[in-house]
Amino acid sequence: MRLWHNPASPFARKVRIVAREAELLPRIEEIAVMVSPVNPNTDLAARNPLVKIPALQTDDGKVLYDSSVICEYLDSLHNGVHVIPSDATRWDALRVQSLCDGILDAAVLCRYETAVRPEPYRWNDWVKGQFTKIRNGLDALASEAPAWGERFGIGQIGAACVLGYLDFRFADENWRAPRTPLAKWYEVTRGRPSFVSTMPT
Ligand code: BEZ
Repeated sequence: MRLWHNPASPFARKVRIVAREAELLPRIEEIAVMVSPVNPNTDLAARNPLVKIPALQTDDGKVLYDSSVICEYLDSLHNGVHVIPSDATRWDALRVQSLCDGILDAAVLCRYETAVRPEPYRWNDWVKGQFTKIRNGLDALASEAPAWGERFGIGQIGAACVLGYLDFRFADENWRAPRTPLAKWYEVTRGRPSFVSTMPT
């Protein structure tokens, strides 16, 4: 399999963590690409009409996107502990994954708005609105974290990617102070080998 990704992308990181947790890494060639909304990567464009990462080419030549579909596909390829449960806890796991994806959508849009968009076109109130979504989403995660225990399923993988991305791109956002249970959970989780080996630099 071939996985197009960018080391800074939190959505790609989610997939790369699942690949490691499922011990599928030896079967995957990870291809790092630069992504730009104004200068699309032609190699990726030939495979994904949305020109988005992550994109996974399966062994039979299909190309899968987006991150949640790729995670589900990878999870179907192994017989270990599944990151997406099939019992009654499935819907909570998928809901938390969606919550994390939504926080990441807002955070990545803010990153583009503040680092990529030319200054005269930036819209501060819009950024503020995205940050409200990020903070409300973090509050919701903080209220769930005490029940997670040692589970590292798709919801927790998403949460780790959210917190890692905020530390990476928005280090001034002091998300820990008002959310001690989430900060405590992250302190333990960030040492996990699949998380350490996918750390953006
Ligand atoms: C980033 O540099 O923050 C980034 C790169 C690719 C996708 C999303 C975010």
